[in-house]
Amino acid sequence: MSAYIKKSVRAMQGYTPGEQPTNPQVIKLNTNESPYPPSPAVREALQSLKVETLRLYPDPVSLVLRRKIADLHGGTPDNVFVGNGSDETLALCSRAFVEDDGAIGYFEPSYSLYPVLAQIRAVTARPVALGPDFEWAMPVDYQASLFFMTTPNAPTGIQYPKTEIRAFCARFPGIVVLDEAYVDFSREHCMDLALECDNVLVLRTLSKSYALAGLRLGYVVGAAPLIEALFKIKDSYNVGRITQAAALAALSDQAHMQTLVERTKATRRRTITELERMGFRVFPSETNFLWVKPPQISAADLYRRLREQNILVRYFPGGRTQDYLRITIGTDEQMQALVNAMRGA
Ligand SMILES: Cc1ncc(COP(=O)(O)O)c(C=O)c1O
Repeated sequence: MSAYIKKSVRAMQGYTPGEQPTNPQVIKLNTNESPYPPSPAVREALQSLKVETLRLYPDPVSLVLRRKIADLHGGTPDNVFVGNGSDETLALCSRAFVEDDGAIGYFEPSYSLYPVLAQIRAVTARPVALGPDFEWAMPVDYQASLFFMTTPNAPTGIQYPKTEIRAFCARFPGIVVLDEAYVDFSREHCMDLALECDNVLVLRTLSKSYALAGLRLGYVVGAAPLIEALFKIKDSYNVGRITQAAALAALSDQAHMQTLVERTKATRRRTITELERMGFRVFPSETNFLWVKPPQISAADLYRRLREQNILVRYFPGGRTQDYLRITIGTDEQMQALVNAMRGA
């Protein structure tokens, strides 16, 4: 590898995104996208967008969109940052809130981007192992500069008790980033902590419950000084005109998002029943995916056999995740096809 490349970059693998197959026949249950289309208001917003205006830069601070987000959650636009997917906002947090000799923490297993962000920054990674059933397990004296917490967690789907999260935020010496990518599918959220505490940021995305993974819009809510720090280091025009317009339309149609969420939760219930009947261990899910351990067959073999039948789920080889599969909740028809394929596997 070229000696021109930084040592830390040479040493790292980089993030491995879930596969995006080109074959339209594939039943895609591997990256927690929505199986349903986004709000019709998004189509209208895109159709009424004048292509002519694309010669102009977008609003660099996405003010109209931030005002909408503040209306939804409380606070003011000064409490809101928007980015090119929540992945961009996670990366900005790792740059804004961690000194070069600092440390980034996260639960293991959780979102596999977090260790990569620590590697990119060439800072210490300080992971915390979850309990035997992937439950909350935080040492009382744990310290780091920043802690990324997916809640509810991915890939396990488990929601941590809010009392634990609240107590942790109160005693942690650094910034706590609560990554609520899946929170619309769960019973409770922690947005109030972002608005009350000076060291807590809550991240949301339009990629899951709003069915807009292709749009790339994530946002952060928190104390104004933290938000200001993110603005200082972002790219000048990090959210384009098309994304700002479409995201505004999607966020203005909460009813559509809620309908999609309820549909997914109903399919989630039905799929859990079917899989448990077949002997799978299914973890309690507060998300749009299931974390399951298959009976009799190894997770790796089941992954391969499903793949042969054009059904794609997510398998994380190695370590504590190797005995499990993460399965996105698709439509009822897709989940029935999955269950049928599993019966034959
Ligand atoms: C926990 C978690 N955070 C963030 C993201 C990234 O979301 P976005 O599409 O907004 O970048 C994902 C995507 O799968 C995720 O699982």
